[in-house]
Amino acid sequence: MSTPPSRVRQVDCERVDDPQMRDHTQPRTSRYVLAVGLVLLLCGLLFGYDQGVISGALSGIEKEFGPSTFVIEIITSWVTLGAMVGALVAGVLADRLGRRFTLVLASVIFVVGALLEALAPGTTVLVVGRLVLGAGVGIASVAGPLYGAENAAARDRGRMVSLYQMAVTIGIFLAYWADYLLIENDRWRLMLGISAVPAVLLVLVVLPLRDSATWYVKVGRRTDAEDVVRKAEPEVDAAQRIADIEQGLASEQQASWGEVFSRTWRRPLIVAGGLAVLQQLTGINAIIYYANTIFAAAGFDSPTQQSLATLWAVGGVNVLATLIAVLYVDRFGRKPLLTIGSWGMLLSLLLVAGAFFRLDEVSASDAAAHGTSNAGLLALVGTVTFIASFAFSLGPIVWTVINEVFPSHVRGKGVAAATALNWFAAWAVTQTFLSVVDLTSTSGAFLIFAFFCAVTLWFVHRYVPETKGRTLEEVQAMWADPDELERAIAARD
Ligand code: BGC
Repeated sequence: MSTPPSRVRQVDCERVDDPQMRDHTQPRTSRYVLAVGLVLLLCGLLFGYDQGVISGALSGIEKEFGPSTFVIEIITSWVTLGAMVGALVAGVLADRLGRRFTLVLASVIFVVGALLEALAPGTTVLVVGRLVLGAGVGIASVAGPLYGAENAAARDRGRMVSLYQMAVTIGIFLAYWADYLLIENDRWRLMLGISAVPAVLLVLVVLPLRDSATWYVKVGRRTDAEDVVRKAEPEVDAAQRIADIEQGLASEQQASWGEVFSRTWRRPLIVAGGLAVLQQLTGINAIIYYANTIFAAAGFDSPTQQSLATLWAVGGVNVLATLIAVLYVDRFGRKPLLTIGSWGMLLSLLLVAGAFFRLDEVSASDAAAHGTSNAGLLALVGTVTFIASFAFSLGPIVWTVINEVFPSHVRGKGVAAATALNWFAAWAVTQTFLSVVDLTSTSGAFLIFAFFCAVTLWFVHRYVPETKGRTLEEVQAMWADPDELERAIAARD
């Protein structure tokens, strides 16, 4: 994992916000970079589609195979487990094979996974398909943004990362849409199989392109590197750009794993790791993955109604609120957004838990038989406000902070560790959600998520420094200066 993973370049948003970067005399983004943007868009769509699609597919799978709750959890969550492994090996693959061939490999793995899922004769093959597909998702989620960031000029990098985040939510939305259109006859095989299409498109788009200049420099192919720079940024001095890349690579490769986990960087590691885990323990993916199941329990009686509620209340709201966050994130501080969002999530979860407290009194099937009740509508309202609160706060900002807190030579590995923790926590939540519901109740499960929102509020208040308006060098210096650190933590949240 020697290369920085998926969201490493987020911090470059700040440079993009520099007014000089908006200078109209700046050259326009080249067509080559637009094609690279398309690669990134497809990677995000793939990622999002596979996160969202299972919500609508579950009811058909249940009807056909009659799996136990535990097996349903495995079918749902092992895509995350595959993605965790994929993300961990992706750095090495991207270094050995190049970013471009790694993306081709991810697409092939992805198509195999999607076909295994779509043609599965039983739950075992289905689970294998989920794992394989997850590995493809994980690899693409690292190699795609890396390829995008390395090919873009500084002025475009922030936009590239925002584009990726938007694409993930649009992918979730499209998946919910496919679910809605195909749920009528429980055509779950088609829902899952469709995801092979963007993977094939990804191969077709990425194959005619070149690898990134950074990778060519790494493997000593200087002429190729210069060629790419000329295509991507025709206006810059290619030799100078290559020299910059060489310098950047030298500083990025310094830290060993021992140094990353040393006392020196313990505080940023706690901040990044804590936020990565809390982003998941507050329940987002339980809602993304099991939205239809939740709406069924809330009394939305037909699968089509459930899918419609999921499409707009979860999918649509997620895209809109993420768009707002992406447009305005740099105007507000990180701490106020994290705090307001966590409060919103906490109150929404209490509302949903309260609604389910009423609904739990009748079984889910009874609730469905009685149609949407007031309590069901309250659960819907709570879900909408939860998703909106997440999408403008913990969703994007956690990744912003994770990418800001480490000094550059520690960042690659530090972000990798936080990303792996995030996947692991996502897996733990989706693997246990239905069992926790069975063991306690639906409202019990939401109260647990609400508890973790309270923990997040405490954690942000106690540990997270305000990084807005600081250069990365200032953030780095802050960790060694206890007074400055306390001042940044005490900044209004
Ligand atoms: C999280 C994902 C989540 C997505 C929802 C991201 O920030 O890391 O786990 O599914 O937001 O939009």
